[in-house]
Amino acid sequence: MDIKKTTDLSWDDFDELRDPRPDSNDFDAVVEQAISRRGFLGGVLAFGSGALAMGAGMLGATSARAQAAAFPFEPIDIATDFEIHVPQGYQWKPLVKWGQALFSEAEGAYSPETGVPVEMSDKVFGENTDGMELFLVDGKELVAVNSEYVNPKINLPASSEGVPANADEVMLLKNMQGVTVMEIADNGNGYEVVLDSPFNRRITHETQMTMDGPAAGSDLVKTNADPEGMSPKGTMNNCGSGKTLWGTYLTCEENFNGYFGTTGEMPEGEGYSRYGIGAEGRYAYEKYDPRYDLSQEPNEPHRHGWITEIDPSDPESTPVKHTALGRFKHENAEMVQAEDGRVVVYMGDDERGEFIYKFVSNGTWSDGEPGDGLLSDGTLYVAKFNPDQTGEWLALTPDATGMSMEEILVFSRMAGSKVGATTMDRPEWIACNPLKAETYCALTNNKNRGLKPNEGGDETPVGGPNPREANNYGQIVRWTPENGDHGAIDFTWDLYVMAGNPEVHDDAYAGSENVTAGNMFNSPDGMAFDSTGMLWIQTDGDDSNEGDFAGMGNNQMLVGNTETGDIARFLTAPNGAEVTGLCWSADRKVAFVGIQHPGGAWPDGEGKPRSSVIAVWREDGETVG
Ligand code: FEO
Ligand code: CA
Ligand code: CA
Ligand code: CA
Repeated sequence: MDIKKTTDLSWDDFDELRDPRPDSNDFDAVVEQAISRRGFLGGVLAFGSGALAMGAGMLGATSARAQAAAFPFEPIDIATDFEIHVPQGYQWKPLVKWGQALFSEAEGAYSPETGVPVEMSDKVFGENTDGMELFLVDGKELVAVNSEYVNPKINLPASSEGVPANADEVMLLKNMQGVTVMEIADNGNGYEVVLDSPFNRRITHETQMTMDGPAAGSDLVKTNADPEGMSPKGTMNNCGSGKTLWGTYLTCEENFNGYFGTTGEMPEGEGYSRYGIGAEGRYAYEKYDPRYDLSQEPNEPHRHGWITEIDPSDPESTPVKHTALGRFKHENAEMVQAEDGRVVVYMGDDERGEFIYKFVSNGTWSDGEPGDGLLSDGTLYVAKFNPDQTGEWLALTPDATGMSMEEILVFSRMAGSKVGATTMDRPEWIACNPLKAETYCALTNNKNRGLKPNEGGDETPVGGPNPREANNYGQIVRWTPENGDHGAIDFTWDLYVMAGNPEVHDDAYAGSENVTAGNMFNSPDGMAFDSTGMLWIQTDGDDSNEGDFAGMGNNQMLVGNTETGDIARFLTAPNGAEVTGLCWSADRKVAFVGIQHPGGAWPDGEGKPRSSVIAVWREDGETVG
């Protein structure tokens, strides 16, 4: 592999490079057989009528005019420029940009020409913002926010061509990832970061952590640097987020595989190949830091890919990796409660043909209690979706899998394959409706659906909640647990929306009936419910505005009414960017929205593009969700 090329690839394409699909396949005919758009939807619905309260999104066409009436804003048009657009009556401004100082010693460290020097790289806001949550602590508003990945070409000198040449450059790249905890305040100029707040903190590849749960201390996670296997260092590729019931932050380690490589022998085993861990790392860290060198530390990758809990209220607290929640490419972690008080965490594994998981604690939680021990002891389940719109959660136990509990947790994907979990179209964010027991998962896209098995050899047949071959648009599946209890084993499901392009296609690729020329989009990714029960949908897709994607424009954020099915476009991102991460101020009057990997010179208008969190508010001072 050419490292100069791999750093330019999306994570999805990086995985594909490791394991390309064949040129031809047995399923080529399936697209030809796709039935008409209306017929397709009728087919899906036929299974569920009676059994499910079907959302109108799948049932009735909604005109653009009707959609406009259903939302407290006028939906906006697509954009193809390098600006942010929001509806009339709304305003926005940057809250924090890549390289911005969190501490006064780093003020002025960022340069539009050269970025951030390594000495200040852990005292500034990181690059490529992603999941975030807001916490109210002693009357102060704290935001914990992920910096998902790093763009070496933006951070390193131009002469490097994006490949680090020494340990300092590796450290710079590592520090641009991780988590930021920052206090924000509105002192009359709109929200700003509170410089030098005692709560401000960076958590990076270098931060000391602990582990708990059944795999903590197991042989699979021991290294030369940590022979007890209890003290991993660092968190990486922090994608989506979660908020616990007891007020802590969950950061979700996603594409950790690409940081590891080897300068010597490549260790063998399905535990590497299934997770896309190969001899050549994506960023060449292994050449300058032995922790990333598989020939020296073959277990180091087993210490990443976890849900990690951070207490934003205590800057001295040690983050904890919760092995009980399984190891995979974690997108986000949506926590709710079962009827009996147990804690339930829904989680997606974002890779083509991987699974959706649910953790259910053994202990119960009541209002006001800490969460001590709840995320270290419980059952990990994986989802099986049946074609008849029913489904069930399959417990990953030694009996069911033939694996030890430690193996189940470290190699959760392999455990999921053993029990016959449903291979999904890249599960991204999961969000639970606050007004009823109902859960939504964005299945962003899957160009290999029906064409190629997943990394473990599981088939990826067209059908169920993944109904289209070579699915380049994505869909959002939702499920209702039996008896409205998130602790239940059984559920029923339907599709809330199937993204598509009704201007280009007249078959299943036109999308579901709630997709129109006026609101179309591709690749749903980030999702969050607001307090009124509206579902905010963020996209990370093809923003070429050409071919299959003509008329969709730049990536965007939409608002979905899950009762009527209506969906309306609220915000468009600068070209090149994805929209990811969403939370609200404590009074709900300001929405904070992540803009990741923008193109052009956004938002400064000159110099390097800077991933940023923006604040969006209504001019009339009303709430925005
Ligand atoms: Fe980091 Fe799957 O998005
Ligand atoms: Ca991303
Ligand atoms: Ca994502
Ligand atoms: Ca994505």
